[in-house]
Amino acid sequence: MKAVAFCGSARKEGNTALLLNTVLDSLAEQGVATELVELAGKEVTGCRACFGCFKNKNQRCVVDKDPVNDCIVKMVEADVVLLGSPTYFADLSSEMKALIDRAGMVGRANEGLYKRKLGAAVVAVRRAGAMHVFDSINHFFMISEMIVPGSSYWNIGIGREKGEVAGDEEGIKTMKTLGENIGWLLKKIKE
Ligand SMILES: Cc1cc2nc3c(=O)[nH]c(=O)nc-3n(C[C@H](O)[C@H](O)[C@H](O)COP(=O)(O)O)c2cc1C
Repeated sequence: MKAVAFCGSARKEGNTALLLNTVLDSLAEQGVATELVELAGKEVTGCRACFGCFKNKNQRCVVDKDPVNDCIVKMVEADVVLLGSPTYFADLSSEMKALIDRAGMVGRANEGLYKRKLGAAVVAVRRAGAMHVFDSINHFFMISEMIVPGSSYWNIGIGREKGEVAGDEEGIKTMKTLGENIGWLLKKIKE
Protein backbone atom coordinates (compact mmCIF):
# COMPACT_ATOMS: atom_id res chain seq x y z
CA MET A 1 0.00 0.00 0.00
CA LYS A 2 1.46 3.30 -1.08
CA ALA A 3 0.43 6.95 -0.80
CA VAL A 4 2.05 9.82 -2.63
CA ALA A 5 1.34 13.48 -1.89
CA PHE A 6 2.14 16.34 -4.25
CA CYS A 7 2.55 19.78 -2.71
CA GLY A 8 1.81 22.58 -5.17
CA SER A 9 2.98 25.45 -3.00
CA ALA A 10 5.62 27.78 -4.40
CA ARG A 11 7.37 27.70 -1.00
CA LYS A 12 8.99 24.64 0.53
CA GLU A 13 7.91 23.21 3.87
CA GLY A 14 4.99 25.62 4.18
CA ASN A 15 1.43 25.16 5.36
CA THR A 16 0.30 22.94 2.49
CA ALA A 17 3.23 20.57 3.10
CA LEU A 18 2.46 20.52 6.83
CA LEU A 19 -1.17 19.57 6.16
CA LEU A 20 -0.18 16.88 3.65
CA ASN A 21 2.39 15.48 6.09
CA THR A 22 -0.31 15.24 8.75
CA VAL A 23 -2.39 13.04 6.44
CA LEU A 24 0.71 11.01 5.47
CA ASP A 25 1.70 10.50 9.14
CA SER A 26 -1.73 9.06 9.85
CA LEU A 27 -1.40 6.73 6.85
CA ALA A 28 2.11 5.68 7.91
CA GLU A 29 0.74 4.73 11.34
CA GLN A 30 -1.64 2.42 9.49
CA GLY A 31 1.19 0.69 7.61
CA VAL A 32 1.00 2.63 4.36
CA ALA A 33 4.29 3.63 2.65
CA THR A 34 4.30 7.39 2.10
CA GLU A 35 6.11 10.00 0.03
CA LEU A 36 5.82 13.78 -0.20
CA VAL A 37 6.82 15.49 -3.46
CA GLU A 38 7.24 19.26 -3.27
CA LEU A 39 6.94 21.16 -6.55
CA ALA A 40 8.40 24.34 -5.01
CA GLY A 41 11.47 25.60 -6.83
CA LYS A 42 10.80 23.40 -9.84
CA GLU A 43 9.67 24.78 -13.17
CA VAL A 44 6.41 23.07 -14.02
CA THR A 45 4.97 24.33 -17.28
CA GLY A 46 1.36 24.14 -18.42
CA CYS A 47 -0.25 21.81 -20.96
CA ARG A 48 0.66 22.74 -24.56
CA ALA A 49 -2.54 21.19 -25.93
CA CYS A 50 -0.44 19.34 -28.53
CA PHE A 51 -2.27 16.04 -27.84
CA GLY A 52 1.05 14.22 -28.30
CA CYS A 53 0.10 12.05 -25.31
CA PHE A 54 -2.91 10.73 -27.29
CA LYS A 55 -0.67 9.99 -30.25
CA ASN A 56 2.14 8.32 -28.29
CA LYS A 57 0.03 6.56 -25.61
CA ASN A 58 3.21 5.84 -23.63
CA GLN A 59 2.02 7.16 -20.25
CA ARG A 60 4.21 10.23 -20.64
CA CYS A 61 3.82 13.90 -21.47
CA VAL A 62 5.84 14.95 -24.52
CA VAL A 63 7.34 17.78 -22.45
CA ASP A 64 10.08 15.83 -20.73
CA LYS A 65 12.26 18.52 -19.18
CA ASP A 66 10.38 19.10 -15.95
CA PRO A 67 9.20 16.85 -13.07
CA VAL A 68 5.72 16.04 -14.45
CA ASN A 69 6.62 12.67 -16.00
CA ASP A 70 8.24 11.57 -12.72
CA CYS A 71 5.08 12.66 -10.93
CA ILE A 72 2.95 10.59 -13.34
CA VAL A 73 5.09 7.49 -12.62
CA LYS A 74 4.65 8.04 -8.88
CA MET A 75 0.88 8.46 -9.30
CA VAL A 76 0.65 5.25 -11.33
CA GLU A 77 2.59 3.31 -8.69
CA ALA A 78 0.53 4.63 -5.76
CA ASP A 79 -2.80 3.46 -4.36
CA VAL A 80 -3.49 6.91 -2.89
CA VAL A 81 -2.82 10.29 -4.52
CA LEU A 82 -3.00 13.44 -2.39
CA LEU A 83 -2.93 16.78 -4.19
CA GLY A 84 -2.26 19.82 -2.02
CA SER A 85 -2.35 23.48 -3.00
CA PRO A 86 -2.25 26.81 -1.22
CA THR A 87 -4.99 29.26 -2.12
CA TYR A 88 -3.72 31.87 -4.57
CA PHE A 89 -6.30 34.50 -5.53
CA ALA A 90 -9.04 32.06 -4.57
CA ASP A 91 -7.60 29.43 -6.92
CA LEU A 92 -4.96 26.71 -7.34
CA SER A 93 -1.24 27.49 -7.49
CA SER A 94 -0.01 27.50 -11.07
CA GLU A 95 2.29 24.54 -10.28
CA MET A 96 -0.65 22.38 -9.17
CA LYS A 97 -2.78 23.50 -12.12
CA ALA A 98 0.01 22.53 -14.55
CA LEU A 99 0.42 19.13 -12.88
CA ILE A 100 -3.32 18.46 -13.01
CA ASP A 101 -3.69 19.49 -16.65
CA ARG A 102 -0.76 17.43 -17.90
CA ALA A 103 -1.04 14.37 -15.64
CA GLY A 104 -4.80 14.45 -16.24
CA MET A 105 -4.47 14.51 -20.02
CA VAL A 106 -1.85 11.73 -20.00
CA GLY A 107 -4.17 9.68 -17.77
CA ARG A 108 -7.05 10.12 -20.22
CA ALA A 109 -4.82 9.29 -23.20
CA ASN A 110 -3.88 5.95 -21.61
CA GLU A 111 -7.19 4.26 -20.76
CA GLY A 112 -7.58 5.96 -17.37
CA LEU A 113 -4.24 5.60 -15.60
CA TYR A 114 -5.58 6.58 -12.18
CA LYS A 115 -8.88 4.71 -12.34
CA ARG A 116 -10.07 3.49 -8.89
CA LYS A 117 -7.11 4.91 -7.00
CA LEU A 118 -8.03 6.92 -3.92
CA GLY A 119 -7.64 10.69 -4.19
CA ALA A 120 -7.92 13.55 -1.72
CA ALA A 121 -7.46 17.30 -2.00
CA VAL A 122 -5.74 19.33 0.74
CA VAL A 123 -5.81 23.14 0.81
CA ALA A 124 -3.99 25.82 2.82
CA VAL A 125 -5.60 29.24 3.07
CA ARG A 126 -5.11 32.48 4.95
CA ARG A 127 -8.75 33.56 4.88
CA ALA A 128 -10.95 32.91 1.80
CA GLY A 129 -11.14 31.01 -1.47
CA ALA A 130 -10.16 27.53 -0.25
CA MET A 131 -13.42 25.89 -1.32
CA HIS A 132 -12.77 26.83 -4.92
CA VAL A 133 -9.32 25.22 -4.75
CA PHE A 134 -10.79 22.14 -3.06
CA ASP A 135 -13.44 21.83 -5.77
CA SER A 136 -10.93 22.31 -8.59
CA ILE A 137 -8.71 19.48 -7.35
CA ASN A 138 -11.74 17.23 -6.92
CA HIS A 139 -12.69 17.85 -10.55
CA PHE A 140 -9.47 16.06 -11.50
CA PHE A 141 -10.20 13.08 -9.23
CA MET A 142 -13.79 12.68 -10.38
CA ILE A 143 -13.11 12.80 -14.12
CA SER A 144 -10.22 10.37 -13.59
CA GLU A 145 -12.60 7.73 -12.15
CA MET A 146 -10.90 7.97 -8.77
CA ILE A 147 -12.54 7.37 -5.39
CA VAL A 148 -12.63 10.31 -3.01
CA PRO A 149 -12.91 9.63 0.74
CA GLY A 150 -13.98 12.47 3.01
CA SER A 151 -13.24 13.78 6.47
CA SER A 152 -15.18 15.50 9.27
CA TYR A 153 -14.85 18.82 7.42
CA TRP A 154 -13.59 19.82 3.97
CA ASN A 155 -9.82 19.28 3.88
CA ILE A 156 -8.75 22.83 4.59
CA GLY A 157 -6.21 24.33 7.03
CA ILE A 158 -6.00 27.98 7.99
CA GLY A 159 -2.70 29.85 8.30
CA ARG A 160 -0.63 32.55 6.66
CA GLU A 161 3.06 32.35 7.57
CA LYS A 162 4.97 29.09 7.27
CA GLY A 163 3.85 26.64 9.94
CA GLU A 164 0.93 28.77 11.16
CA VAL A 165 -1.53 26.13 10.07
CA ALA A 166 -0.31 23.94 12.95
CA GLY A 167 -2.33 26.26 15.20
CA ASP A 168 -5.56 25.48 13.34
CA GLU A 169 -6.76 22.74 15.65
CA GLU A 170 -9.81 21.83 13.58
CA GLY A 171 -7.79 21.82 10.34
CA ILE A 172 -5.21 19.44 11.81
CA LYS A 173 -7.96 17.21 13.20
CA THR A 174 -9.58 17.18 9.75
CA MET A 175 -6.30 15.95 8.20
CA LYS A 176 -5.87 13.20 10.82
CA THR A 177 -9.43 12.00 10.28
CA LEU A 178 -8.89 12.12 6.52
CA GLY A 179 -5.83 9.90 6.94
CA GLU A 180 -7.80 7.47 9.10
CA ASN A 181 -10.62 7.30 6.57
CA ILE A 182 -8.29 6.80 3.60
CA GLY A 183 -6.43 4.05 5.48
CA TRP A 184 -9.69 2.34 6.45
CA LEU A 185 -10.96 2.36 2.87
CA LEU A 186 -7.64 1.25 1.43
CA LYS A 187 -7.59 -1.82 3.68
CA LYS A 188 -11.16 -2.72 2.64
CA ILE A 189 -10.23 -2.43 -1.04
CA LYS A 190 -7.09 -4.54 -0.60
CA GLU A 191 -8.88 -7.30 1.38
C1 LIG B 1 0.11 34.79 -4.72
C2 LIG B 1 -0.64 34.52 -3.45
C3 LIG B 1 -2.02 34.64 -3.45
C4 LIG B 1 -2.75 34.37 -2.30
N1 LIG B 1 -4.12 34.44 -2.36
C5 LIG B 1 -4.85 34.12 -1.26
C6 LIG B 1 -6.28 34.10 -1.31
O1 LIG B 1 -6.91 34.35 -2.34
N2 LIG B 1 -6.95 33.82 -0.17
C7 LIG B 1 -6.31 33.55 1.01
O2 LIG B 1 -6.98 33.29 1.99
N3 LIG B 1 -4.96 33.49 1.07
C8 LIG B 1 -4.22 33.75 -0.02
N4 LIG B 1 -2.83 33.69 0.02
C9 LIG B 1 -2.20 33.19 1.26
C10 LIG B 1 -1.86 31.69 1.20
O3 LIG B 1 -2.91 30.92 0.69
C11 LIG B 1 -1.52 31.18 2.62
O4 LIG B 1 -0.45 31.94 3.15
C12 LIG B 1 -1.17 29.72 2.64
O5 LIG B 1 -1.05 29.30 3.97
C13 LIG B 1 0.15 29.45 1.92
O6 LIG B 1 0.45 28.08 1.95
P1 LIG B 1 1.97 27.55 1.83
O7 LIG B 1 2.63 27.88 3.14
O8 LIG B 1 1.84 26.10 1.59
O9 LIG B 1 2.59 28.27 0.69
C14 LIG B 1 -2.07 33.98 -1.10
C15 LIG B 1 -0.67 33.86 -1.11
C16 LIG B 1 0.05 34.14 -2.26
C17 LIG B 1 1.55 34.00 -2.26
